[in-house]
Amino acid sequence: MIVGVIGCGTIANSAHIPSYLNNKDVTIKYFCDIIEERATGAVEKYGCGKAVLDYHEVINDPEVDAISVCVPNNMHAPISIDAMRAGKHVLCEKPAARTYQEALEMQKVQHETGKTLIIGVVNRFNDSVNRIKALIDEGRLGEVYHVYVSFRAHRSIPGLGGAFTTKAIAGGGALIDWGVHYLDIVMYCMGDPKTVTVSGEAFSKLGRDIDGYVCKSMWAGPRTPGGTYDVDDSVTALVRTEGPVLTVHGAWAQNIGESETYIDFMGDKGGIRLQYGGGFTLYTTENGALVTHTPDFTMSDMFQNEIDAFVDSVKTGKRLPSHIDTVIITAQMMQAIYDSSEAHKEIRL
Ligand SMILES: NC(=O)c1ccc[n+]([C@@H]2O[C@H](COP(=O)([O-])OP(=O)(O)OC[C@H]3O[C@@H](n4cnc5c(N)ncnc54)[C@H](O)[C@@H]3O)[C@@H](O)[C@H]2O)c1
Repeated sequence: MIVGVIGCGTIANSAHIPSYLNNKDVTIKYFCDIIEERATGAVEKYGCGKAVLDYHEVINDPEVDAISVCVPNNMHAPISIDAMRAGKHVLCEKPAARTYQEALEMQKVQHETGKTLIIGVVNRFNDSVNRIKALIDEGRLGEVYHVYVSFRAHRSIPGLGGAFTTKAIAGGGALIDWGVHYLDIVMYCMGDPKTVTVSGEAFSKLGRDIDGYVCKSMWAGPRTPGGTYDVDDSVTALVRTEGPVLTVHGAWAQNIGESETYIDFMGDKGGIRLQYGGGFTLYTTENGALVTHTPDFTMSDMFQNEIDAFVDSVKTGKRLPSHIDTVIITAQMMQAIYDSSEAHKEIRL
């Protein structure tokens, strides 16, 4: 399978490119980035492919079967749509797009063209998450009636003033960037229930003072004095679904002590806490006693699993759990949280 990587920044270099290189069925033909050194740097570093600046060159090559879209969120929809229309299969990074409307357009073109479009909700390929899904499907938690979602960090605003904190580019802040993973895990484990009502508030507080924001380090680049900060740095929401109720608490930055990044699945027979990116503990009762189980297992690389599954789906046509049709549910929920926040009232979907 011949692949082009569009966008040669952090996620391309840390996950997509190495995972493609590990897959014996894949040849990377193009590294594309609007910053020339990133494209040429990738060719040099990986010793393969051709560096190009314009993604059209990649999608117009009849030899290319598929692309990875690893660019900022504002370009997810245009590049994915152009690529599918040019006959290419697409793995597009999360979030699907900046807005629900853009995600719907991507879904429409996927349906029209029949090309694969999966979104990088990579936790669907994570071993802990799949074990939890299996336990829930087996009924070990009984009825899961409430899921408590916490993606709260003490000081973790990325590239303050840059692309990640500019709504026109990113579409949103902590919710769309981090929350998308957490909400997607819940949706996946719970069988993708429909959202019924959403009440949310998103706050843009700690990052507004770009120069004065205090932190020990910053990811996704240094702060840009005079740059833009018009996204949420924290969010709270109550979401009723056809399955459980979700309470959502997220923040790139909050005046709390420690970061708290976990999901609690509360069932009437048992509960599970998933430490995001790590393992999990099951709390239940057995023979009249309270018990906890913390399974110990070797975790495989979820990004490698995701890329391998994408390659396999292109070859076989197998439908993946990260298909746009399932990811769209989270896009709709996040949009409703933002809309509810703007209107300061509950949204019924
Ligand atoms: N799955 C995950 O856990 C995960 C982790 C990090 C980032 N991401 C997602 O990946 C995407 C990229 O994030 P990143 O951290 O790698 O950002 P980044 O800024 O490090 O890299 C993005 C690259 O895209 C390039 N680019 C921008 N417009 C382009 C265009 N039109 N054509 C070609 N190249 C273009 C930029 O020059 C840059 O090199 C974002 O949507 C982000 O949400 C996902």
